[in-house]
Order: sequence, then C-alpha cells, then structure tokens
Amino acid sequence: MSRPPTRIVVRTTAREDFAGIGRLTEAVYPGSPPWNERQLSSHLDVFPDGQFVAVEEPGGLIVGMAASLIILWDEYQMHMNWRDFTDHGMFTNHDPENGHTLYGAEVMVDPAVQRRGIGKRLYHARRELVERLGLLRIRAGARLRGYHRHARKMSPDEYVAAVVAGRLKDATLSFQLREGFKVISVVSEYLKFDPESLGFAAVIEWLNPAVAAPEEFDRQARSFLPAPSE
Ligand SMILES: CC(C)(COP(=O)(O)OP(=O)(O)OC[C@H]1O[C@@H](n2cnc3c(N)ncnc32)[C@H](O)[C@@H]1OP(=O)(O)O)[C@@H](O)C(=O)NCCC(=O)NCCS
Repeated sequence: MSRPPTRIVVRTTAREDFAGIGRLTEAVYPGSPPWNERQLSSHLDVFPDGQFVAVEEPGGLIVGMAASLIILWDEYQMHMNWRDFTDHGMFTNHDPENGHTLYGAEVMVDPAVQRRGIGKRLYHARRELVERLGLLRIRAGARLRGYHRHARKMSPDEYVAAVVAGRLKDATLSFQLREGFKVISVVSEYLKFDPESLGFAAVIEWLNPAVAAPEEFDRQARSFLPAPSE
C-alpha cells in the first residue's frame, strides 16, 4: 500500500514538540547535547512567537526548527559568542521593550530532508515576524560549516569572501546568502567546539526594508569588504 502524500507545515512551537526537537537536534548534531526541555520551555516562556517548527503531516514528525529572541544589539559586541547572545541557550536576555534586532539562535533541518526548501520556509516565517513586529533587522552567526576543508590554505576571511563571491559553496552560509543575508563580520570562537567551522562564523544581517533607512544599507554594504583575491 502506498503512503499518503506528505506536506510540510511551519507553525509556532508547542510544548508537545520538545521531544521531537530533541530527536531532530541529535540527527543534525550527533554527539552534541540536544536542546533540552529546560531551554525550550524558557524560549516559550519569554518569546513564544519567535519559535518555529516545520512539521511533516500527516504524522506530526518534527523535521525543522528555528529559534530566535529580540536583543538590544548595543549591549553586545560583534565578537561575542553564541552563549553570550542567547544567555546559554535560555533566551532570558530577550528584550522586546528596547531591542530592534531579532537574533537567530538556531535553524536546523533534518538531514534526511535538507535541500527541499524547508529552511527557506522557516526563514520566511522569521522575516514575516520581523515585519509584523516592525523590527529593524535579523542578525545571526552563520557557522562556517565547510571551513575545516579549506583551513590549511585560506584564512576565515578569505573563505567567506570566496563563498560570498560564489567561488565556494558553504552548506550554511550559502543558504543564508540565498535568503538575502549579507555578511557584516567574521568572528572566531563563536561555537567553540564545532569541528566543522573550527569555531569561526560569519555575522550575517538582513535589514527590514520597511524600517531600515538608506544609511543602514550603506553601512551594511561597507561592513565586510574582503581583500580582492589574486
Ligand atoms: C542550513 C539549513 C538549515 C538549510 O536548510 P534546507 O532546508 O536544507 O535549505 P533549503 O532547501 O531551504 O535551501 C534553500 C537554498 O539554500 C542553498 N543551500 C541550502 N543548503 C545548501 C548546501 N548544503 N550547500 C549549498 N547551498 C545550500 C541553496 O541555494 C538552496 O536552494 P536550492 O536547493 O534550490 O539550490 C540545513 O542545511 C541545516 O539544518 N544545516 C545544519 C544545521 C546548521 O548548520 N544550521 C545553521 C546554524 S548557523
């Protein structure tokens, strides 16, 4: 008997999804501690609208998730790491009163169904949220997932420049660039123990065109100017 056709639904996260998110994390990051109930519960307590899952229906299998919080960027430094921006993954630094920046703390899609547009759907939901809340921008750290394969012959800046120019593909950064993000900096020790990025990340930004002034776009365009390659 053939299986019924499936479809993907993107919706805000509910407590019933926590076990599925835990399984998803183990599939995406084998060997790393998965998102746990304490953290996921805290996300829903502080910012339920900022948490999304992609669910395969029928069946209810969680195949993707995106987690975010609002921060007042001026309280942070560009070089700070994932733990600083997310308060150790708890999001208790969420500051909707003063903040204008949606910080993308996580996005992941089950490896079995990557490259089918699910990440794109999750990002679409995020951008819609930013537009609805009238926020200025989205920022995130894009871990340089393919950098370990090039680390002997190029610096992280050179690697990012090559990905931005389309000479190299990076499984994470190429996706974010395709989603309209621009690189504004390259930082080290972002995800300290990540063997693929070796800790390096591109700080990426998407500006909300309904809110950002032209100067913001100018500043963005001047933020990461890699030296031209030979
Ligand atoms: C990054 C991630 C969320 C993308 O999700 P996805 O559902 O596979 O992405 P989509 O299918 O929506 O891809 C949209 C576009 O992004 C680009 N893209 C996605 N994955 C890519 C890859 N591995 N290499 C190059 N480009 C890629 C492509 O242009 C793609 O469009 P196309 O398939 O029509 O060419 C997913 O690969 C993932 O979970 N990675 C592991 C976790 C991770 O690194 N998260 C980011 C933390 S900073």
